[in-house]
Amino acid sequence: MSKFPRDNTITLTANERPTAWYNVVADMPTKPEPSLNAANLQELTGPDLEAIFPKVLIAQEVSLERYIEIPDEVQAFYDLYRATPLVRCYRLEKYLDTPAKIYYKYEGANPGGSHKLNTAVAQVYYNKQEGVKRLTTETGAGQWGCAVSMAANYFGLEMQVYMVKVSYNQKPYRRHFMELYNGKVCASPSPYTQAGRNVLAADPNCKGSLGIAISEAVEDALQREDTKYSLGSVLNHVSLHQTIIGQEAKTQIQKADDYPDIVIGCAGGGSNLSGIAFPFVQDKVNGKKVDILAVEPTACPTLTKGKFAYDYGDTAKMAPVCKMYTLGHDFIPSGIHAGGLRYHGMSPLISQLRNDGLIDAVAYNQNQVFDAAKLFAQTEFILPAPESSHAIKAAIDEALKAKEAGEAKTILFCLSGHGFFDMQAYASYMAGDLQDIEFDPKNFGHLPEIK
Ligand SMILES: Cc1ncc(COP(=O)(O)O)c(C=O)c1O
Repeated sequence: MSKFPRDNTITLTANERPTAWYNVVADMPTKPEPSLNAANLQELTGPDLEAIFPKVLIAQEVSLERYIEIPDEVQAFYDLYRATPLVRCYRLEKYLDTPAKIYYKYEGANPGGSHKLNTAVAQVYYNKQEGVKRLTTETGAGQWGCAVSMAANYFGLEMQVYMVKVSYNQKPYRRHFMELYNGKVCASPSPYTQAGRNVLAADPNCKGSLGIAISEAVEDALQREDTKYSLGSVLNHVSLHQTIIGQEAKTQIQKADDYPDIVIGCAGGGSNLSGIAFPFVQDKVNGKKVDILAVEPTACPTLTKGKFAYDYGDTAKMAPVCKMYTLGHDFIPSGIHAGGLRYHGMSPLISQLRNDGLIDAVAYNQNQVFDAAKLFAQTEFILPAPESSHAIKAAIDEALKAKEAGEAKTILFCLSGHGFFDMQAYASYMAGDLQDIEFDPKNFGHLPEIK
């Protein structure tokens, strides 16, 4: 007989699954500041955004409605893989010898391998509804590019992906995955856009960044009538779609007769953290005691070392200007293996909540994170993505703090994706080749002057 309880996975029936996304803006004590048009730094209007986004997503971006119904076609795709499992880490708990209970919500078992599919399907669906034939996007680590290529192929749209060059070279299998679903992929900075050519002229060896890849994808979308742009994180409508994660998790953890003391997610642009945390932020605003923790790399510490200020969403100043935590739009993070966490900015919703003291943040270096990933793989038998491993590291630290304090804390974290395409990163880690990189304030990028 196993010495561990056999009911470590909590699932939901179709009828228990949420039928609407949760919009945290309805409950935020301070509403997010309006975004600005990058061309003139004036308040952004719906028509400004129509060149790159379909009308329904623009409406979701500024909505104050608390719940927005999930369309049947999107729900039908979710049927393929939702609800995702909520798993109690009995083996990791035992290894740590902690009184804490550790749960993870696993978003890596879906066909795309990460939480990114939750919004990819919704975004492509709304674009199709409005007659869009082709989409452009950026991808960092490649998970978003895979998810959106899959969704575009499902709904019959063409997909052009600008993949940050360092990841393009580190993760060739991600590219083949996208191509299998008819996505067209090029390394960014590329020679195909003015934004890319400008960067290459200044530095032919530039490794790229999410900020540069966004500029290229937006420029491409602006060139063609039949094309719009799709973003995998940061924006309010992306956070909205991801709340399916936290809503499910809340029902699942209630089924286990439990409630988290702390909810943890890694944060690149903030979408999986929004997803797991916003339904709990609602409880927190309504008086419940629950901590929310964002985890980021020391190489790109947007929430722990950035400024809360208006900044461009991309390097070439084409994407909307948002009030957010930022390291400056021309800051290029080092080529760490958690490519999805190499973004200079942060979701304006996460940023506002952080500024209001409703979200805390912590930063870890690469080797600490991979140590945690290895321990997790050896105790819980899932190989985590390097991005998700940041959340694992924080969960382990919280469990050890609970041990020291003798507290039976309940910890919930989002395991946002699997790491099966990240073996090069694991190989470098095992060979002792990973560098720990601290952010140097001298490298802080530029911010626009807002009058
Ligand atoms: C598995 C995984 N987790 C987390 C992230 C970070 O993005 P976000 O902060 O939007 O969740 C990424 C981004 O590529 C990712 O692929």
